[in-house]
Amino acid sequence: MSRIFSGIQSTGNLHLGNYLGAVRNWVQLQHDYECLFCVVDLHAITQWQNPADLKASTREVAAAMIASGVDAKKHIIFNQSQVSGHAELAWVFNCVARLGWLNRMTQFKDKAGKNRENASVGLYAYPNLMAADILLYKATHVPVGEDQKQHLELTRDIAAKFNNDYGVDFFPLPEPMILGTATRVMSLKDGTKKMSKSDPSELSRITMTDDADTIAKKIRKAKSDPDLLPDSEKGLEDRPEAANLLGIYAALSDTPLDDTIAKFAGEGFGTFKQHLADLAVAKLGPIQGEMTRLMDDPAYVDGVLKDGAERARALSEPIMAEIKDIVGFLNV
Ligand code: TRP
Repeated sequence: MSRIFSGIQSTGNLHLGNYLGAVRNWVQLQHDYECLFCVVDLHAITQWQNPADLKASTREVAAAMIASGVDAKKHIIFNQSQVSGHAELAWVFNCVARLGWLNRMTQFKDKAGKNRENASVGLYAYPNLMAADILLYKATHVPVGEDQKQHLELTRDIAAKFNNDYGVDFFPLPEPMILGTATRVMSLKDGTKKMSKSDPSELSRITMTDDADTIAKKIRKAKSDPDLLPDSEKGLEDRPEAANLLGIYAALSDTPLDDTIAKFAGEGFGTFKQHLADLAVAKLGPIQGEMTRLMDDPAYVDGVLKDGAERARALSEPIMAEIKDIVGFLNV
């Protein structure tokens, strides 16, 4: 069976974009693949994290996966730092990947910003660790958002160079799975900006812990425009807020955007927002309830992560042992 690996950063404030773009798709995939879903805390510290917050966010992300319907018995949910192979293999890949390859990574440029000299070395080497996450399990398929495609290509380059340098046919070249239509969820306050955990306005995002009233209020207060809703996708050009809200409706209702546009063509935002709020509450409310319950029971969540880490270690240890042998590390 094909094996899936995917990761999500534990930096807190999981929002609708994380749900629609990642977690919800994982829930679908678990029927057809063997899956490992990882809370990537090693990646999280490439930028400063308050230690207490990091622990809380790791539990929050794990709770979100469980509450959304990932089956932690059939599949594996764990946090990256519990399986030492990730860091070990990342080091090997630091020695396989070339500076020139990493210099092309757009995410590093975005995250490092103007003050590149002050970015951590870990932020620069981030893609090598991501390659290690995937290849430590010889995963064949990797569901990711559009923004991670470049890192996936790098992973394939690393796998190919390793195989070639050592004259082995060891690592598979993993396939990206770019899923979902409305995976780009934008800010509720500015349809041109991605929904983000770091936006200072709470009203810009729906988080996975928002209760029904909060969800409804945020949708009511979402930015709109004075026009009626259009009858075709073309009518959404230059209307980023309308496009975003209709996209969210389409994603939450699992219908194509075309059908959603047809459904609300000619309506005002008032009516449409009411429908959207009802739908969002119906879909997200139960997940939020379950998540809140799980976050009040950290011992349970820790138990799931511990069990996941044990099983992840069992899968990765024989692979890591082979890698060490291929590279020429003496096993004494
Ligand atoms: N870099 C990914 C993101 O920001 C998270 C991630 C880390 C990941 N390791 C991974 C995703 C391995 C897929 C596979 O979304």
